[in-house]
Amino acid sequence: MPEPTKFLLTEADVPSHWVNLLPDLPGEPLPPLNPRTGEPAGPGDLTPIFPMGLIEQEVSMEPEVEIPEEVQRAYGLWRPTPLYRARRLEAALNTPAKIFYKYEGTSPAGSHKPNTAIPQAYENARAGIQRLATETGAGQWGSSLAFACSLFGLGCEVFMVGSSYDQKPYRRSMMQTWGATVHRSPSDRTESGRSQSSHDTGSLGIAISEAVEVAAQDPDCNYALGSVLNHVLLHQTVIGQEAILQMEMAGEEPDVIVGCVGGGSNFAGLMFPFLRAKSGARIVAAEPAACPTLTRGVYHYDYGDTVGLTPMMPMYTLGHDFVPPPVHAGGLRYHGDAPMLCGLVKAGVVEARAYKQNDTFAAAVQFARTEGIIPAPEPAHAIRAAIEEAEAAREAGEERVILFGLCGHGNFDLAAYDAYLSGELQDPEFSEADMEAALARLPEAPAIA
Ligand SMILES: Cc1ncc(COP(=O)(O)O)c(C=O)c1O
Repeated sequence: MPEPTKFLLTEADVPSHWVNLLPDLPGEPLPPLNPRTGEPAGPGDLTPIFPMGLIEQEVSMEPEVEIPEEVQRAYGLWRPTPLYRARRLEAALNTPAKIFYKYEGTSPAGSHKPNTAIPQAYENARAGIQRLATETGAGQWGSSLAFACSLFGLGCEVFMVGSSYDQKPYRRSMMQTWGATVHRSPSDRTESGRSQSSHDTGSLGIAISEAVEVAAQDPDCNYALGSVLNHVLLHQTVIGQEAILQMEMAGEEPDVIVGCVGGGSNFAGLMFPFLRAKSGARIVAAEPAACPTLTRGVYHYDYGDTVGLTPMMPMYTLGHDFVPPPVHAGGLRYHGDAPMLCGLVKAGVVEARAYKQNDTFAAAVQFARTEGIIPAPEPAHAIRAAIEEAEAAREAGEERVILFGLCGHGNFDLAAYDAYLSGELQDPEFSEADMEAALARLPEAPAIA
């Protein structure tokens, strides 16, 4: 028998609960603040755009939350996802490290995003909502929500960040195939879009403002967010729970766990169950040097969107109206990050690193040429960090066990690969001056330690 490459679970192993890390975090959770009054935002602030089922999950202090049966059944379409041992990459790197990756690209939309799109569509349908509005950066979230809405009979309206809309026409085709309507953001359909028309490439922050505005004005329409919020991170914990079982099958425990961070959901989904299980692994977050929220941002209350319609959240931020340069990892072009993850970075539990676009594509191509899968540009950041860990293990002569999250495939990101392979891919500079200007416009809010 050759040594195993894949560690596979059966459908009976799809988790029955999500792991809620909120009660495990150090100190009292910092509340979101109402954007107008600056007072702690309660469930009443959220009911115009979210159903009560999700609001309850957002504030729950229960250590585990049961996954509804309908959601478990829908997860069964593609879960459990495989865990691989990257034997060929290890050989190419000539490293004694053992590299494992949890692959979420087997979902219908090609990434981890349906893990939360499904329960979000389910709770909204249960609450009698007819339609969901959302933003999408890379197109992965928009297509996941379009897919989930099609399963639960909901309409879906997607504001797609302008630069991604231009780079990824087939992501738009996927969304339309699942029945969604797609607008290039900034659009002229909303006040928020019109006010930001000078930023033609758009940003996640602008697209969020547009979708929130649409949802807030229509009682039959709610808003859905693909990252950042507690309930989104909660839903993604199916990833880490499965990975724990699969690492056990492999007879290994990770020394280091690596993931990419845009808003923090795939990363949290992988690592939260390991933190709950008191894993001693080092935890490394990889982000783009062009949008270095965790490595260069300030820890402060800020809005989740550009215009300031969402509650203020305690997070590392580059400033809500900072417009990051248009890198291909559109899902990582966000000015802030999940408050739960930011708290862990602040507490020193998670280490953050930033990588330039060309370095991440070099890692992605090396991965594709050894392991076969063409990664999305977002997890290419995690691959870059995992390779760095494997090289450090080689230098130290250490049998380090590395686990990373391969949260999506790049089959619709080939324009980015074309640019890299033809030597035309840029490394857009992060502008310190633009960040300083955006930070000067942070909302007034209590300082956080
Ligand atoms: C493939 C992929 N990875 C990562 C991300 C970043 O989001 P998060 O940090 O919430 O996982 C996105 C977001 O769109 C994505 O599409």
